[in-house]
Amino acid sequence: MSVQEQVHQLRETVRHHEHQYYVLDAPDISDAEYDVLVRELQALETRHPELVTADSPTQRVGGKPREGFVKMAHSSAMLSLDNALDETELRAFDARVRELLGGEEYRYVAELKMDGLSMAARYEGGSFLAAITRGDGEIGEDVTANARTIRSLPMKVAQTEPFEVRGEVVMHRAAFDRMNVEREAAGLARFANPRNAAAGALRVLDPTVTASRRLHYYTYFLVGAPGSHSESLERLHQAGFKVNPNRRICHDIDEALSFCREWDSKRDGLPYEIDGIVFKVDSVAQQVRLGYTARAPRWAIAFKYAARQVETRVLDILVQVGRTGALTPVAVLEPKQVSGVTVSRATLHNEDEIARLQLQIGDSVIVERSGDVIPKVVRVEARGAERRPFLMPTHCPVCGGHIVREEGEAASRCINTNCPARLKESVRHFSSRGVMNIDGLGDALIDQLVEKSLVKSVADLYQLTAEQLAGLDRMGEKSAGNVVSNISDSRKLPLPRLLSALGIRFVGERTSELLAEHFGSLDGIAGATTEELQGAEEVGPKVAESILNFFAEPENRVLVERLRDAGLTFTHTIRRKTVGPLAGKTLVLTGTLPTLTRDAAKQLIEDAGGKVAGSVSRKTSYVVAGADAGSKLDKARDLAVPVIDEKELMDLLA
Ligand code: IVH
Repeated sequence: MSVQEQVHQLRETVRHHEHQYYVLDAPDISDAEYDVLVRELQALETRHPELVTADSPTQRVGGKPREGFVKMAHSSAMLSLDNALDETELRAFDARVRELLGGEEYRYVAELKMDGLSMAARYEGGSFLAAITRGDGEIGEDVTANARTIRSLPMKVAQTEPFEVRGEVVMHRAAFDRMNVEREAAGLARFANPRNAAAGALRVLDPTVTASRRLHYYTYFLVGAPGSHSESLERLHQAGFKVNPNRRICHDIDEALSFCREWDSKRDGLPYEIDGIVFKVDSVAQQVRLGYTARAPRWAIAFKYAARQVETRVLDILVQVGRTGALTPVAVLEPKQVSGVTVSRATLHNEDEIARLQLQIGDSVIVERSGDVIPKVVRVEARGAERRPFLMPTHCPVCGGHIVREEGEAASRCINTNCPARLKESVRHFSSRGVMNIDGLGDALIDQLVEKSLVKSVADLYQLTAEQLAGLDRMGEKSAGNVVSNISDSRKLPLPRLLSALGIRFVGERTSELLAEHFGSLDGIAGATTEELQGAEEVGPKVAESILNFFAEPENRVLVERLRDAGLTFTHTIRRKTVGPLAGKTLVLTGTLPTLTRDAAKQLIEDAGGKVAGSVSRKTSYVVAGADAGSKLDKARDLAVPVIDEKELMDLLA
């Protein structure tokens, strides 16, 4: 088989698996197997740069940050929809359709109205060509490079004639929550809802940021399609697009209404937010006859769900102490029902949020609930007659320790590392799924362990006996035995788990992996200087400082020693190759190389036994510089680190 055929076949295979994973949510190989395929493809493309095409699965995040967005005209107006706010308005819409169609039979396609932002995607010659935001409906912004990073948007399709689809870019709730946690940790403002977050992610100038946000694209319209809308959706699905499967043909308005009611009660279980149901007349011939108003099609309507808000009163504001000692103010509310759930608490995030809302205790507020996330206060509706301001306590409500709010930080923190509230949160974090994974160590048990002083540090977990546990509330002998053995099993978990279990600020799952991979042991990390820490991938000054501070704390050093004594995993087998022309060498890439993408260069270096670091230090063996190299090049010159270009890199590899 020729290289060209090999590349072609590999791309088809990778595309197949991407479609299974990102569009159908039904992967048929493991992530690791998929990675191997992609790496193989990258390696082939690196050796044969002339075979690289824009629609290759390797090119999704190739682009450079841009200066700004270019305006682009839509092929035909990208209209919005008229709304029906209740049953009466929906029936009125239906009556108008019936009248305009003069007694002809018709039916609707009912679809979920996903709460994101609309985007058009154009294809030509079987490849993705461009993506445009809605803008004012006539002219939008060219977001092609960012859209490429959305994995559910196919880069290659069978149809070679030009066509355009329209759909919704959405961020799933889980990604949204995770992003906000990260933003808070970094001292950034939270996004108010997944829609704003999705819009922000699609409109950043750097496609790598968009890629990290894990957006989805659900297609809901094929421009200029013949036949019927339901056939179009089916064809789009067959062509590899992600089409929301939660849709139904409704033969009359009563069926339509029951679809609305059904999804109103099921919507909280969806991984993304919806704000209503869209009904479209199915037959395209009938759509044409119904036509458009200046604003919207006459053949479609959005039935909007009432926002899940309720007015209630703030009785008090309490503070909760988290694992890092951060205090979160929580509003205690006069209990109210919101879509079948009693709401009595709402998060206020931090002091700045309370100031922004101009909220005081005693005020009447609007509270909103979305999905299973903690309800939040949207605004003050009426000031209370006897309102009083909330003051952040100067001492921890749990342990009496000092509260400090550092310059530039949103959160106030309890600085007592022995604070029982912090300890409980630390144990919760330590044992949670994805960290040390200790089954059976639930909240009620953790509370008792801390309150009875059986656990004063996470290291104490490894000293617990089944007898001690069996004496606690709601603990039988059998479950006590299970918990002890689950705790014991957790010793064997790999170093990255332990590292993220320590709860060092900014050191989550991914950073832990990268640190373990770079240093090979916990001692290596604990003993590293800021410079050395920053030699690890994705570790910048802020993360390095946080790690340094953690290990500088005598108490944390005691904890580490106790965990070592308990037999936890302190070393990590570095997957890096120790043979090859670049074995033992650390390289830093900067600027745009003439032929290699960053990923491809990294792959080549790693295949040759070398390592790629994110920042330049004295330990850097070479800096590979391309066009528009920035501060890393300056730093290399300052530190007298050899600077080479792509050609010299290839010579080293040969
Ligand atoms: S159809 C002519 N279908 O809702 C086609 N829109 O309020 C017009 N939306 O701008 C759009 N889910 O951004 C359609 N299944 C769906 C939708 C949907 C979400 C958004 C879309 C539109 C807005 C109208």
